[in-house]
Amino acid sequence: MPYLKIVLLFISLARLRYCFSQQINSTSQNCTVVEPVYQWVWRPDRITGSYRWEIVCVNCTTSGQDDGTNNFHPPNRTIPINSYISDPVRDSRLIVRSSKPFNGETPVELLSKSYYTPNEIFYVRNNHPVPVVDVEDYHLCITGIGVTPTNLTLSQLKASFARKTITSVLQCAGSRRAEMDDLRPVAGTKWGGGAVGNAFWTGADFKSVLAYASFDLRNYPNLANIHVQFEGLDHDPVTLKRYGASIPVKYLLDGNFEPLLAYEMNGSPLPRDHGFPLRIILPGIVGVRSVKWLWKVTISDHESDTPYQKEKYKAFSPSILSTTVTKTNYERTLPIYDLPVTSYITSHKDGGSVQRGLGLVTGYAYSGGGRFIQRVEVSTDRGDTWIEAEIGPDLTKKWLKSWTWVLWHATMAFVPGWQEVWVKAVDDGNNQQPQEIKSVWNFEGYLTNTYHKIVLYGN
Ligand code: MTE
Repeated sequence: MPYLKIVLLFISLARLRYCFSQQINSTSQNCTVVEPVYQWVWRPDRITGSYRWEIVCVNCTTSGQDDGTNNFHPPNRTIPINSYISDPVRDSRLIVRSSKPFNGETPVELLSKSYYTPNEIFYVRNNHPVPVVDVEDYHLCITGIGVTPTNLTLSQLKASFARKTITSVLQCAGSRRAEMDDLRPVAGTKWGGGAVGNAFWTGADFKSVLAYASFDLRNYPNLANIHVQFEGLDHDPVTLKRYGASIPVKYLLDGNFEPLLAYEMNGSPLPRDHGFPLRIILPGIVGVRSVKWLWKVTISDHESDTPYQKEKYKAFSPSILSTTVTKTNYERTLPIYDLPVTSYITSHKDGGSVQRGLGLVTGYAYSGGGRFIQRVEVSTDRGDTWIEAEIGPDLTKKWLKSWTWVLWHATMAFVPGWQEVWVKAVDDGNNQQPQEIKSVWNFEGYLTNTYHKIVLYGN
């Protein structure tokens, strides 16, 4: 036995040394990110030979490498005028809400079939064409105030930082928007309850990677203004502006917060639609900030300048309309970060029929900010009485770190004729869903988290 212990000790020491040497080897070239400059060019297609307009990066290098002067040039890319030509093929079960850019919703009846939403049917929310990324060219750049500019290849990220897995829901702020639109028309894609999914994500701990780039919260005397900005490789094909969003650095002060640089989703490399080769996962926070195809992280003294940060993804008062909203409203309304508590019935469709007698109702419930669901309640008498639903296993139920959803089921007594079924959830902070949509209605249609109410006809 003592021999075995000695052998194990040697193996551990050897592994430690290996990790250490990987860390040293991965010490990256410093990088100052050169912003790509694009131009429209009329030129022959490489495959067909026929001429067409393409957007070409004129200052990128082919390999996306450092040029030897510590200036990191992003990988060379051309974007054909039919920018969506390179988008991946999608699973036919996704409900297509728009094709260019692709927005596809998971049919809700599939959501409560598995705790982890399979990659092929996980909702997709793209604002632009899906970029084609050659992993050999790929670098993640970390730059900005108080950090050592650093770029890391995907292999460096994998070799130098421990693999970490977290389970987290991603939910679009517009999920369930169609219900809000039913009350009064709102802008944006009319998502049902399927712009949400739960997955386990594997990658490198974001805080450790930042620390590797010498990031230290103590270096920022005025923390309140500091933002961590994330930028994706995808562009608007017309304005050429890239996707980006940011979070206040205060999130990193929270020891429970577990941001992840994810390169795997449910055990497979990130699918192209979900950000291959790398995305940030910001658990508990609205999906828009979990930037896909992540290529640049900037520590900045201001929030991201993109519309996704400054214009969209703000939920105004029901009394503010698209015609009356002012600059001050925009400035004073915070971007959406943590998601509020919500629940949804996935087993039955509004207006559907049901067998009279006892029947099973199922669905999901989720709360943002690391809060877990303590209770789900269902009513068939418009809220006079409530039945507590059975909550399925919450595999991550941890105070302040519950990033996942629960799947629930309840046995209900259905009567002949029309009846309403309502569901609401209560999270660990005793936050409950609002009852009426009119109290949370906003002209952009964000954060519909009211009781989910459906009507069913009992046969
Ligand atoms: N990141 C980039 N680069 N481009 C995007 O269009 N969409 C955001 C976010 N990250 C987006 C992005 C939005 S609005 C949401 S809800 C989530 O990604 C959706 O992630 P998914 O498509 O993997 O489900």
